[in-house]
Amino acid sequence: MDTIEKFNSYVMQSYGRYPLVMENGYGRQCTDEKNMKYIDFGSGIGTNSLGFCDSDWADAVCSQVRKLQHNSNYYYTAVQADFAEKLCRETGYQSVFFCNSGAEANECAIKAARKYSFDKYGKNRHNIITLTNSFHGRTMATLSATGQDVFHNYFFPFLDGFINVQTNDCNDLREKIDDSVCAIMIEYIQGEGGVNTLSQEFVDEIYRICAEKDILVIADEIQTGIGRTGKLLAGEYYGKKADITSLAKGIAGGIPMGACLFGEKVKNVFTAGTHGSTFGGNPIACAGGNAVLDKIMSDGFLDDVNRKAEHFRKRLEKSPEVVSVSGIGLMIGIELKNKKASDVAAKAIEKGLLVLTAKSKVRLLPPLNIEMSEIDSGLDILIDILEG
Ligand SMILES: Cc1ncc(COP(=O)(O)O)c(C=O)c1O
Repeated sequence: MDTIEKFNSYVMQSYGRYPLVMENGYGRQCTDEKNMKYIDFGSGIGTNSLGFCDSDWADAVCSQVRKLQHNSNYYYTAVQADFAEKLCRETGYQSVFFCNSGAEANECAIKAARKYSFDKYGKNRHNIITLTNSFHGRTMATLSATGQDVFHNYFFPFLDGFINVQTNDCNDLREKIDDSVCAIMIEYIQGEGGVNTLSQEFVDEIYRICAEKDILVIADEIQTGIGRTGKLLAGEYYGKKADITSLAKGIAGGIPMGACLFGEKVKNVFTAGTHGSTFGGNPIACAGGNAVLDKIMSDGFLDDVNRKAEHFRKRLEKSPEVVSVSGIGLMIGIELKNKKASDVAAKAIEKGLLVLTAKSKVRLLPPLNIEMSEIDSGLDILIDILEG
């Protein structure tokens, strides 16, 4: 049996996969089992933030593997303390809860918001406003939070307590706010929803209402966070800091990890026994996280991300087959004139390039340390496909 046959026989078929068996990767390139090379413009959906097997990251992870691979949260580790301190210092948050994925980070954010409100105001102030076209994960609570009907199938009953507001519609927001609301949860740039950026006016109105009514802002920065947009957090572009920010994807450079950051109001919201995760704050993941954060915060790194992003955008915008380029930094959505995004992604694989899609757009989430020459080689392929 070859790998694809074996895979399809034994692994639950819950994904549509391309017929490509990945074998190894180095830098921004990976190789399949037939030794074909691919330039990576997807980073495993924004997760391999430093590309494949970055040597500083690999050294940090491997040395931790040889030292202490897991520790229950009954005890302390220096590596978790170091990462927590660094993350809080760089983002300006007061405390962090570590978990293992984006959906779990959002579950944590939802629980924290409800507990904050319960502790202060009692029952019946538990509703969370989420936006149409959002995506917050695949667990029952995060699916319920996700503002897309296409995700509200099969698994009934979904959870109560989520109210959808039209994205970028201040009137709808004002109409739906009442005394039952404890939080508003947003993605500054909706990734899965099609790389759509929230307007400054809408974000300002959210923060104004939340400040006035002691409603918490939850920023889902799972896709936008940790340098993806050219700033450590995308909220910085709006001049905002949410009460709670959820992170995952690129945070540990490809090791499963999620994190929930808490600001002043909520920094002590969980007390012993109210939330937990066996693997949360795993030492290997924290070692990976330390290596990623050190690199992203090193001098000039984020300036480079912005320079590269500009180069991507300038070249793409020149193509007559591109209607518009959305997103911020290295979170790039390409609206196409004639081609179908899924056809482009499949064709790109044949030509040695990995890209993503989001709704009708081609989506690029390249490794943050991609080099200009690699950007140009990948864009030559992509633009050729679009204009071919
Ligand atoms: C904005 C956002 N939130 C949550 C998630 C869920 O993350 P995970 O797949 O790690 O559970 C994703 C994943 O794509 C995401 O983009």
